[in-house]
Amino acid sequence: VKDIEDKLPLKGKKILITAGPTYEAIDPVRFIGNHSSGKMGFDIAKMAAQNGAEVILVSGPTHLQVDNPLIDLKRINSAQQMYDACHDVFDSVDVTIAAAAVADYRPKNVASQKIKKSDSTFIIELEKTKDILASLGEKKKNQFLIGFALETENEIEHAKAKIQKKNLDLIVLNSLNDKGAGFGHDTNKVTFINKDFVIEPMDLKTKQEVAQDIINKIIQYYDA
Ligand code: CTP
Ligand code: CA
Repeated sequence: VKDIEDKLPLKGKKILITAGPTYEAIDPVRFIGNHSSGKMGFDIAKMAAQNGAEVILVSGPTHLQVDNPLIDLKRINSAQQMYDACHDVFDSVDVTIAAAAVADYRPKNVASQKIKKSDSTFIIELEKTKDILASLGEKKKNQFLIGFALETENEIEHAKAKIQKKNLDLIVLNSLNDKGAGFGHDTNKVTFINKDFVIEPMDLKTKQEVAQDIINKIIQYYDA
């Protein structure tokens, strides 16, 4: 068994993966969230571990579990907590894959007590969260950095802009225009775009197969 483990392609590599949604508190009982299930990120984590990598999986709220001892699951709630957890370990990792659906905005003020209803309309002022992936892109030295892009229009242009803005090596473009892809589905239709803007459209696949494709990109990078 030891011999087989030594030959796994990602043996000795440390991979940081973000997954799931973030929850941004409004008051002690309410939050702003999104429909991310975490499945894509968890599938990537599983596939990375099966290929021998040591994985740090930073995930927002999800019912998913992990059972591979190579995966260290750190559960967080908010974008700020995900930011802190990622920066805690980033210097020590070889690869980072940002699959989380991080909230772009959060309530500017969090009420310390449950907000009571009144007869008037209720307005929540929102402020921007930190861009976790962009902040890692600024900090990166030798890390291979992979991001996702969720787009509904001008997909390729928007994804290319994200590669540059976040200093990525590879982006996985998720198109919501394709039937059977994205939130709540078990399948994804993705397009890979690398930092040289080489575009590679993939077929409609299960999230497990997409995870395998992403891991293959990493293996190829280290084999080259
Ligand atoms: N991301 C992140 N931190 C944020 C927002 C996004 O790390 N605060 C990461 C996501 O995990 C994903 C990538 O950045 O890998 C792109 O996320 P996306 O929502 O598509 O892009 P944004 O930069 O947030 O731009 P917009 O939502 O306006 O398209
Ligand atoms: Ca966003």
